[in-house]
Amino acid sequence: MAGGRPNKSDRSDLSDTSDTSDTSDTSDLGRPPGFPFGQKSKSTRLVQIMAKPPAPVRLGIVGFGNMGRFHAEYLRAGKTVGAELVAVCDVNPDALRHPLAQGLAAYGDSRKLIRSGTVDAVIVATPHYDHTTIGIEALTAGLHVLVEKPISVHTADCQRLIAAHKNKKQVFAAMFNQRSSPVYAKVRELVRNGELGGLVRVNWIVSDWFRTQAYYDSGTWRATWAGEGGGVLMNQCPHNLDLLQWICGMPRRVRAFCKLGARHRIEVEDQVTAYLEYDNGATGVFITSTGEAPGTNRLEIAGERGKLLVENGKIRFYRNETQADEFLRTSPQGFGAPPVWNIEIPVPAEQPQHQVLMQGFVDAIRLGTPLLAPASEGIHSVELANAMLYSSALETTVELPLDAAAYEKELKRWITNSKLKKTPAKKITGNFGASFQK
Ligand SMILES: NC(=O)c1ccc[n+]([C@@H]2O[C@H](COP(=O)([O-])OP(=O)(O)OC[C@H]3O[C@@H](n4cnc5c(N)ncnc54)[C@H](O)[C@@H]3O)[C@@H](O)[C@H]2O)c1
Repeated sequence: MAGGRPNKSDRSDLSDTSDTSDTSDTSDLGRPPGFPFGQKSKSTRLVQIMAKPPAPVRLGIVGFGNMGRFHAEYLRAGKTVGAELVAVCDVNPDALRHPLAQGLAAYGDSRKLIRSGTVDAVIVATPHYDHTTIGIEALTAGLHVLVEKPISVHTADCQRLIAAHKNKKQVFAAMFNQRSSPVYAKVRELVRNGELGGLVRVNWIVSDWFRTQAYYDSGTWRATWAGEGGGVLMNQCPHNLDLLQWICGMPRRVRAFCKLGARHRIEVEDQVTAYLEYDNGATGVFITSTGEAPGTNRLEIAGERGKLLVENGKIRFYRNETQADEFLRTSPQGFGAPPVWNIEIPVPAEQPQHQVLMQGFVDAIRLGTPLLAPASEGIHSVELANAMLYSSALETTVELPLDAAAYEKELKRWITNSKLKKTPAKKITGNFGASFQK
């Protein structure tokens, strides 16, 4: 059992499919009737599969910058079964001249791509605020949508975006690629199936998101309230905050200290220490930075039955022979502690994370399989990030659920009061793909 408040989207059955396409009606999903959910016999289904595989999903990428191109590369290399990248869109005409865009339909306006009739689904890989507007536009037009993280900048926008997903036959997914990591999937399983016992404490130091000033200067939208809506919490940490709530549930309250421009010339947070409290009394500390080197990525989760330590792609389980709460209540010893088994939990090899998520998105459209990261769950990481920034700004403890309207108003105030003069974007060197391989 996790110690946190169950998320609206939380499920005890991890294979729950309720947030993906409606599996009862397959008529317009391009797959043979009855497959794979109908009552047909196995042999009939096999004949159907062999006779008529579901049509490939025609994809368009909106935002052809670093991430858009990253997705295009493996899609064009045919790494996603059943997907065909047919169109790209970017407001910057230079972006559309990239070799990866050649031979594809190119659009300078997302609305034109969305209404073109040439795509079944869009991948939204633009700066953050546009995730909401473009996502709503695409969902309203009946397209399937895969939105990059964070799904929106603040919870009020998340609610607007999620509300636009009215037709559950449309697949609406979020690129929380780290959910595909076998390490975190295993940790979640151990916590959620009660192997660790009730949550006592979670600590995550994620200070290995090191970024240079050149990185922040590489885009005018980066590290600004108006362009990005925050710093490390909004750009790098959506992954970790999503995993944190995916594994432990949502805390009840948050007190955070966010240092704005502590290590860089930026107006948003690049250093954060947050204290969390869960419904069952468990506590959490979340620490992150983009200015610390060498960084640390160390997740420690203590439960009544033991402790998990996740670092360097390994999970170590210190398992109490007797539950801690029982031992401390019943042991006659003054200084003893429960004997511990020290176990390294085996985990399967890592697969290319973004490709796993993309394949899942395409399979959900073609075959009705459940999503690993439904977009509706993306509100939780945004809520955590917002709560940390809000708590720090107001110098107070913030109770969750966060007051979405109050935070939106406060964020607008930060944007209005911004004195930052961003210089034009400068080109940077380096391997973009290496920036998120964790
Ligand atoms: N999942 C991951 O591992 C991962 C890694 C990096 C970035 N991201 C996310 O991907 C998104 C894009 O980040 P990036 O690093 O590629 O940024 P980027 O600045 O390199 O690219 C953004 C592109 O979007 C274009 N654009 C801006 N507004 C647009 C609009 N309204 N319509 C169409 N195009 C528009 C820009 O011209 C630019 O080419 C962000 O949400 C970011 O957080 C995700």
